[in-house]
Amino acid sequence: MRRSAFVVVAHRLPVDDSIAPDGACEWRRSPGGLVSALHPILRRSPATWVGWAGQTGPARQVPDIDGVHMHSVPLSTEDIAEHYEGFANATLWPLYHDAVEQPVYHRRWWEAYQLINQRYAEAAAALAEPGAVVWVQDYHLQLVPGILRELRPDLTIGFFMHVPFPPPELFMQLPRRAELLRGMLGADLVGFQRAQAAHNFAQLCVKVLGLQASDRRIAIDDRIVRVGAFPVSIDTADMESLAASPAVVARARRLRADLGDPKHVILSVDRMDYTKGIEQRLKAYSELLDSGQIKVRDAVMVQVAVPSRERVEQYKALRERVEREVGRINGEYGRVGEPAIHYLNQPFDRAELAALYRVANIMAVTPLRDGMNLVAKEYVASRVDDTGALVLSEFAGAAAEFPQAYLCNPHDLDGLKAVLMDAMKAAPDDVEERMRAMREHLRVHDIRAWARSYLLALDRTGGLAARLT
Ligand code: ADP
Ligand code: G6P
Repeated sequence: MRRSAFVVVAHRLPVDDSIAPDGACEWRRSPGGLVSALHPILRRSPATWVGWAGQTGPARQVPDIDGVHMHSVPLSTEDIAEHYEGFANATLWPLYHDAVEQPVYHRRWWEAYQLINQRYAEAAAALAEPGAVVWVQDYHLQLVPGILRELRPDLTIGFFMHVPFPPPELFMQLPRRAELLRGMLGADLVGFQRAQAAHNFAQLCVKVLGLQASDRRIAIDDRIVRVGAFPVSIDTADMESLAASPAVVARARRLRADLGDPKHVILSVDRMDYTKGIEQRLKAYSELLDSGQIKVRDAVMVQVAVPSRERVEQYKALRERVEREVGRINGEYGRVGEPAIHYLNQPFDRAELAALYRVANIMAVTPLRDGMNLVAKEYVASRVDDTGALVLSEFAGAAAEFPQAYLCNPHDLDGLKAVLMDAMKAAPDDVEERMRAMREHLRVHDIRAWARSYLLALDRTGGLAARLT
């Protein structure tokens, strides 16, 4: 087994397989913020990524990608049902996102969560060189740092939470709250997207575990665990050059023509997830059509909603509701060859997404709660001519970095409609000024800056940050 000085542990590997036209198995990058964030960094240094290859059954061989060794963790159908679909995505995910859907608690899911965390931790322990750095990602694996510390006290262990971390009033609901906190405290550095999340975590360590804690340092046993906010980002330069490439520009022109060359193209790109505010947005658009404030011919909506967690009950129900509503809106307001909403429930490659971003003069990113939201950042990076209005929910982590966006509260339907109208009516100078400021911010605060700041805080020698960023 090949050992590495740097090991990333995440629920999934950064790839999905698909079948090529000739019937061969092809690997492509999987959608989702975590993968989008980490993938560009690891290309720079020999590293190992421990994760699931996306299919149940025995571990699959995944080829190394851009020099990163892929180590696949086997998961059975039952493991996926109880750990991933159960505890991770029906208990923790809704609870961490303001309980916008009711979290579900089952004791057997907790058993599975422990077991699978143990499996990932053992894989990482076996793959890490003496003294290596292991960086554990996200809510699926909150127990891994604690288990790893037991197995390999020589390691430097990082943990990063990509999703929000809830206030004590919500977290206290969890039947196994103490174990989950203790698991995270196995790390040397616990990172969050926002300072508020770090504060919530520290408060909980005091309240649940009776520890001495500030928002930056927590004392446990004979160690100090550091805590901090490290807002994740994207590979800005890469998105800029993709969006400016002749192929993407040509594709965007073609898309705009296919959409009937309307005055406004309102775009949304989400995983099909109830946290993303898709239903509220559809309702706002439909009411604007109904009141005559906009006409389909002038303001077409494109909703990309890539399938996600499709066996989880709340996700199935959401998809049905969304599709019914899209059908209703198109039935009521569309004409032959002229639908009001272009609904795309499919994954796309990055060039196609970039072309969509370039077509849209209005980007509506209106989650009810989101750790960061990288789609908002990808849109900004793609607007290389400084045009385009970003309508952004106050409840996305990205809002803290983009005060120049057209900010909205997606729970307030009239407010959301008003902000969409503001964005459509805005003077070009105003739009341009806002977009320029957001792009400047993103050039400095890109994915490398994120990784550098986290890794410097984790490994104070600076060696790792120098190698990777
Ligand atoms: P989340 O992490 O909740 O999925 P983010 O907005 O942070 O939300 O990240 C979503 C990532 O998935 C982005 O990098 C985006 O480009 C990618 N993505 C979204 N929709 C698609 C799609 N239809 N096809 C491929 N990638 C997608
Ligand atoms: C969010 C989570 C990631 C997850 C991604 C896609 O970004 O923070 O951990 O990978 O959504 O979701 P999925 O369930 O398809 O992995």
